[in-house]
Amino acid sequence: MTNISHDLSDSSASLRPQVSAGEITVSNVSKSYGAGLFTKEVVKDCSFTIERNKLTVMIGPSGCGKSTLIRLLAGFEKPTTGSIKINGKPITGPDRDRLVVFQESALFPWMTTYDNIMYGPRARGEDTQQARDLAKFLLEKVGLTAFRNKYPPQLSGGMQRRAELARAMINDPEVMILDEPFRGLDCMSKELMWEYYAGLYEESRRTNFFVTTDIDEAIFLADRLLIMTNIPGQVRATIEVDLPRPRRLAFVFDSKRANEVKTEALSLLHEEAMKSFAGGSKAATDFVEAYSRRADKTGPGS
Ligand SMILES: Nc1ncnc2c1ncn2[C@@H]1O[C@H](COP(=O)(O)OP(=O)(O)OP(=O)(O)O)[C@@H](O)[C@H]1O
Ligand SMILES: [Mg+2]
Repeated sequence: MTNISHDLSDSSASLRPQVSAGEITVSNVSKSYGAGLFTKEVVKDCSFTIERNKLTVMIGPSGCGKSTLIRLLAGFEKPTTGSIKINGKPITGPDRDRLVVFQESALFPWMTTYDNIMYGPRARGEDTQQARDLAKFLLEKVGLTAFRNKYPPQLSGGMQRRAELARAMINDPEVMILDEPFRGLDCMSKELMWEYYAGLYEESRRTNFFVTTDIDEAIFLADRLLIMTNIPGQVRATIEVDLPRPRRLAFVFDSKRANEVKTEALSLLHEEAMKSFAGGSKAATDFVEAYSRRADKTGPGS
């Protein structure tokens, strides 16, 4: 049974997990699909660490292999070469120490919000009073108590994402892995979700790995930012996002440091996007070379 500390009668109820937060190391991982002439290398010699008790955000161009990496971390697929370990032990398949929230909604449309949240414990045969209390606590935490008997199509996009967070958190994983969980939400709902999710993280401090293509989302959330290359994906740079917590949108986007990080990250991402553009034709390659010469003379962002 899950060990998140909670006490419904106590206003100091906390999301701090009692199981230890995990750490994942990815070492020289490559992943290819297909065979022979049709081989496609999606991830190439990729290494990084998802540090314990930190929120690591990976940002990279669309199609650079982020979701592929997530499937490898989740244990749904195996790397072609290289190794992935959690707390020093090789990942051999899916396990409840890691939990993935996917970029597409995974709520079951035929189940109420409450039943969706209780899915994990019930699937393990743990429909206990403790699990039911925890589901109630999490419903409150994600602001969906009044919607506990509604079905997913009766919830707004933001509510559905909050229900998914609760559905993941009830399993108290050592590492939460989120693949663009707010993709497709409108700007306002997205920004609300950033503050909301940052608050949940700040309260629990479990290890989180969050993948996105949105630079503002990445900087607002991250303790550490991993910048990906274009496909085949590899971590090109790591930036420590040393902004104070708790984070508030207005404060972060006024901050000089946040803007420095954004400029640095965007210049790297821009270079990667240009490489993918250059892959297309001779004219595009010439354009990128000319652009790079100009950038060398004037400096990034000029
Ligand atoms: N099972 C597969 N077989 C063949 N190619 C695949 C497979 N899975 C992924 N790919 C290819 O790998 C590449 C990277 O896909 P992936 O979904 O990992 O990218 P992504 O970075 O998550 O993109 P997005 O930001 O758009 O979600 C794509 O070109 C995709 O077509
Ligand atoms: Mg993806």
